Amino acid sequence: MGIFEGKRGLVLGVANKRSIAWGIAQRLAAGGAELAFTFQGERIESSVRDLAASVGSPLVTACDVRSDDDVGRVFREVGETFEGQLDLLVHSVAYAAAEDLEGRFTDTPRDRFWMALDVSAYSLVACARAAEPLMDAGGGGSILTMTYLGGERAVPHYNVMGVAKATLDASVRYLAWDLGQKNIRINAVSAGPVRTLAARSIAGFPTMEAIVEERSPLHRHIGADDVGAAAAYLLSEDARNVTGTTLYVDSGYHAMGM
Ligand SMILES: NC(=O)c1ccc[n+]([C@@H]2O[C@H](COP(=O)([O-])OP(=O)(O)OC[C@H]3O[C@@H](n4cnc5c(N)ncnc54)[C@H](O)[C@@H]3O)[C@@H](O)[C@H]2O)c1
Repeated sequence: MGIFEGKRGLVLGVANKRSIAWGIAQRLAAGGAELAFTFQGERIESSVRDLAASVGSPLVTACDVRSDDDVGRVFREVGETFEGQLDLLVHSVAYAAAEDLEGRFTDTPRDRFWMALDVSAYSLVACARAAEPLMDAGGGGSILTMTYLGGERAVPHYNVMGVAKATLDASVRYLAWDLGQKNIRINAVSAGPVRTLAARSIAGFPTMEAIVEERSPLHRHIGADDVGAAAAYLLSEDARNVTGTTLYVDSGYHAMGM
């Protein structure tokens, strides 16, 4: 029997088959989880529906995480689909304007600064709050989000997204404290560079990859499936006493000083 047999999960952030969220979803589905998916925008709807169908998903629905109405509706639909319960939540969503991932961080305008933090960090708080009653109904749950070293150190070009990740990382710790009372755990995976749609908008992404390959202890790239394996651990009962933490899947790059 799979380790997620009988578990119900919601995955936000699949855009296509390269998405990290899809790497995670495949692991959860292989373990027996039943998964609902959200997509943002009509442009990617059909590819998300196709991927979701391939793992027998009972619910695929639109969600722009900037909208409280969308978030509220999605979690109502999830409650209806999964008999009022939710065990697993995967938050793999981030956005910053392409122009803010190439110039100087110093030049980030106010509106786009807040947009990056809204989509990439506040959305975790909104989703965790909406998931709380559904997880509580089943005696607890587990939440996972995706972060990057650029929230802890200055990584050229990562800019406002790094500030958003720092906010996300701190949010994980505060949510862990609040939700721990209800046996709801929350953790993050900090991934090394993976070639996805979102990564393509970061200027100098190939340089980031080259540096990881040269300087990380393992001298190799990671893939979405590596993140999926780490996420599966953190979301599973094996990690029942792990919360508020970050697991690095980056070939060890974060451990290096040069
Ligand atoms: N690719 C990497 O190298 C890397 C490394 C570390 C962390 N991450 C993080 O992994 C997560 C997933 O990114 P990815 O690399 O798989 O790219 P991706 O483009 O496949 O996924 C990003 C997702 O965010 C969604 N999204 C953006 N704005 C949204 C909004 N307003 N409402 C709802 N959804 C929205 C997109 O639809 C997409 O599905 C992000 O948090 C990213 O920062 C990526």
